[in-house]
Amino acid sequence: MFKKKPLFIVFEGIEGCGKSYQSKKLYNNLKRLKIPVILTREPGGTPSAEIIRNLILKDYYNFKAKEKFNKYTDTLLYLAARNEHIINKIAPSIKKGKIVISDRYIDSTFAYQVYGKGVNKKFIQNIHKFILMNIKPDITFILKVKYDISKKRLKKRKTKNRYDKFSRSFYIQTQKAFLKIAKNKRNYYVLDASNDTPDLEKKILSIIKNKLKK
Ligand code: TYD
Repeated sequence: MFKKKPLFIVFEGIEGCGKSYQSKKLYNNLKRLKIPVILTREPGGTPSAEIIRNLILKDYYNFKAKEKFNKYTDTLLYLAARNEHIINKIAPSIKKGKIVISDRYIDSTFAYQVYGKGVNKKFIQNIHKFILMNIKPDITFILKVKYDISKKRLKKRKTKNRYDKFSRSFYIQTQKAFLKIAKNKRNYYVLDASNDTPDLEKKILSIIKNKLKK
């Protein structure tokens, strides 16, 4: 019924958009269909990349620190984690014919570091030339969410500092960046994830099933 070509599927969007929830649902749905699949995330995904993730997030949420990572240091850390992730997990899994689902990937770097912090886009693109191994997502789901809903979802999390930092202006800027990235691009699906109903999960599964049939 389904072709063998492995797909690389990425979920992107702002904090509280529900991408971790939807990527897990898709993973479980594909497993149920006995399709070989792995679920991973960025920053992180491998033991060494998770060490780098902890470094990044510790710095990011240390609001009282006198000295914080420079935006290029920060970017290099995301890219270092990505390099580990691609070499040790994404590339080998694709080679084995598995579908790879990643919670965040390169578009997060463009949305947060380039559009958000003003890091030079070429700097990232140049490093990507050396580390991506030409692995680009086959499908990217950009999940859109209303501000109040995302804030409500973040409030429920254990790490409250994330919620505290989540201002409306940050939300507007970041969501806009993701939408700009997706504009006029094939293989991008911008979906509204504000409703807590099973409709979105079904829609995502049907998009993937269609792709697998082609
Ligand atoms: P994540 O744990 O996915 O956050 P959430 O579950 O709240 O969506 O991601 C951690 C943070 O890393 C998030 O604030 C976005 C940021 N990030 C970047 O700034 N650049 C990147 O390249 C990536 C992958 C993530």
